[in-house]
Amino acid sequence: MADASSPRVLSTAGFYRRWLGPQLARDEGVDAEQLSQTALQALAQVSLRRRWPGISSVLEGVATELQRRDLRLEQVLFGCRFSNPVGLAAGFDKNGVAAGVWDCFGFGFAEVGTVTWHGQPGNPKPRLFRLAAERAALNRMGFNNKGAEAMQRTLERQALPAPGHRPAVLGINFGKSKLTPLDQAPDDYAASLECLAPMADYAVINVSSPNTPGLRDLQDSTQLRRLVERLRRLPACPPLLVKIAPDLEDDAIDGIARLAYEEGLAGVIAVNTSLDRLGLGQRLIAQTGRTLAEEAGGLSGDPLRYRAVEVIRRLRASAGPALPLIGVGGISSAEAAWERIAAGASLVQVYTGWIFEGPDLVPRILEGLISQLDLHGFRHLSEAIGSGAPWK
Ligand code: FNR
Repeated sequence: MADASSPRVLSTAGFYRRWLGPQLARDEGVDAEQLSQTALQALAQVSLRRRWPGISSVLEGVATELQRRDLRLEQVLFGCRFSNPVGLAAGFDKNGVAAGVWDCFGFGFAEVGTVTWHGQPGNPKPRLFRLAAERAALNRMGFNNKGAEAMQRTLERQALPAPGHRPAVLGINFGKSKLTPLDQAPDDYAASLECLAPMADYAVINVSSPNTPGLRDLQDSTQLRRLVERLRRLPACPPLLVKIAPDLEDDAIDGIARLAYEEGLAGVIAVNTSLDRLGLGQRLIAQTGRTLAEEAGGLSGDPLRYRAVEVIRRLRASAGPALPLIGVGGISSAEAAWERIAAGASLVQVYTGWIFEGPDLVPRILEGLISQLDLHGFRHLSEAIGSGAPWK
């Protein structure tokens, strides 16, 4: 593996910092959604042509810079082999257009979606706002995506290796179509999952986005049980995980842990974006002139970190070590990733932190985890999970 500190003419991380750094340092400037879309469209083209000689050598260069391989970080969880514990969180690649390249960015897994059965445009723009000083974001995208059948075609076109044979595990995150009434949600999720199950290493039931009216009511145990049981009846159901909100009361978190055990869920992903303003209620959004308290949407990034750790701790205490947990929310450093693992997460995901820090966040986290294992005398990451071991 290449030494990341060795000078390269144009490193991915250097390019990112130089060209995007100034944009990301301000709330205003290039629109946050436009920036992501432009990057994603380019990656979509790369993913379709990733075996072309010129493109494959560029991707190899990116992989050499960003990937870190170490047996101590490999895990097999719910039947999936993860080469490392850092994943791309749902919502960045909503239609799975770049599913074939996320491993080159160093990720051990990537979660595409949220996908809904019916394609839908999402909420009116602007709907994604940078909070640069806080390294946070507010979004009310509203599950904009092209629908499950379109995602199936998109994934097929990229000719990905079959599940179980991919360099990075591929999760697919499912949500309810906006036009489907809540009582028909199980059939709506089932239609999407049936269509995409053959392509997913694991599937996520997203019942925690704050931007689809009523969706979070599905976290209620009766409704969630009905939904899970409907999906389990599908002929070929991949390992099923549930993604939950950070705004749940402790009792509700315990209820999810119980349900996960009783229904044999593969794991729980915690957390989605928050409706709580996390002390930032009076923060002004430059583009709208309104405060965070007045704006609709979910908060992500650094301010979410402590609540997200608390939820993982509660889940771990409630469910015990047998239930795999994926920690997400406010992870923008190796220390934050370690803290999440020590609290009980087997895997972590990044989104907002990855945007602000740039692509070398992934190797920095992986190197940080390896050095913590050494410092604590752990032979494998699994010994650190739920250990409470502090960052040294
Ligand atoms: C998200 N997130 C998200 N989650 C999900 O399950 N489905 C989705 O479609 C989306 N969409 C989405 C869009 C945008 C713009 C953001 C910023 C976030 C939530 C995301 O996966 C993650 O749970 C939270 O953002 C918390 O992690 P970070 O961003 O603090 O690392």
